[in-house]
Amino acid sequence: MSLLEVNNLVAGYGPVQVLHGISLSVDEGQVAVVLGANGAGKTTTLRALTGMIKTSGSIVLDGEQLVGKKTDEIVRRRIAHVPQGRGTVAQFSVDENLDLGAYIRSDKAGVAADKNKMFELFPRLAERRKQAAGSLSGGEQQMLAIARALMLNPRILLLDEPSLGLAPLIIKNVFDTLGQINKEFNTTMLVVEQNANLALSIAQSAFVLETGEIVASGPADQIRNDDAIRKAYLGY
Ligand SMILES: Nc1ncnc2c1ncn2[C@@H]1O[C@H](COP(=O)(O)OP(=O)(O)O)[C@@H](O)[C@H]1O
Ligand SMILES: [Mg+2]
Repeated sequence: MSLLEVNNLVAGYGPVQVLHGISLSVDEGQVAVVLGANGAGKTTTLRALTGMIKTSGSIVLDGEQLVGKKTDEIVRRRIAHVPQGRGTVAQFSVDENLDLGAYIRSDKAGVAADKNKMFELFPRLAERRKQAAGSLSGGEQQMLAIARALMLNPRILLLDEPSLGLAPLIIKNVFDTLGQINKEFNTTMLVVEQNANLALSIAQSAFVLETGEIVASGPADQIRNDDAIRKAYLGY
């Protein structure tokens, strides 16, 4: 059984249905990617998984059904979400943003140790720990958003287009770091992305989303090497 098993997920906004019964799974310790063009429903998928919109179907984490649970109950199950765009509070310092990520935790020593780990992983954040998040560069803010989410000590980390709005070299750096986090901390991840190449490079499994439906899925290598899928859905 996979750590996260999603079955027949239906979700949308008011009367508008966006996800038409998608199924996917993520194994413990692995990275799965959901690839899809603009408007495919990637952000909606993560909103459904985190209880932010009305959802039906099944979301099972480690044997527990999560459909119908509120966002704060989802957070308490240590599902961390790095939302699209800014996952940080601009007027709060780097330090304060990291503390915010750990707000549900009561293991003070563990939180302090994890904060040190984050500063080792992201030395640029250590240098800027008293600086407001809003004054950081785009790449640094994305790193802070990832570090903030890791402070939850997540069972699974959900990432919404970590490449969005960043320069190519910075994007490469973000994905290298995500790959490193997965290997070093064994953090399970579900990444939704338009940037297929880089996302596939750190993933073991992939799902292709088109207008709210999964149209292809399989091991990341297989998806990457499938010419028909590449041309039809990934645009390269
Ligand atoms: N708050 C909203 N209200 C109504 N429709 C929305 C809302 N957010 C997104 N949508 C619609 O849902 C579809 C999927 O959007 P989204 O999940 O943001 O796609 P992606 O993240 O893959 O670009 C789009 O057609 C979009 O217009
Ligand atoms: Mg999106």
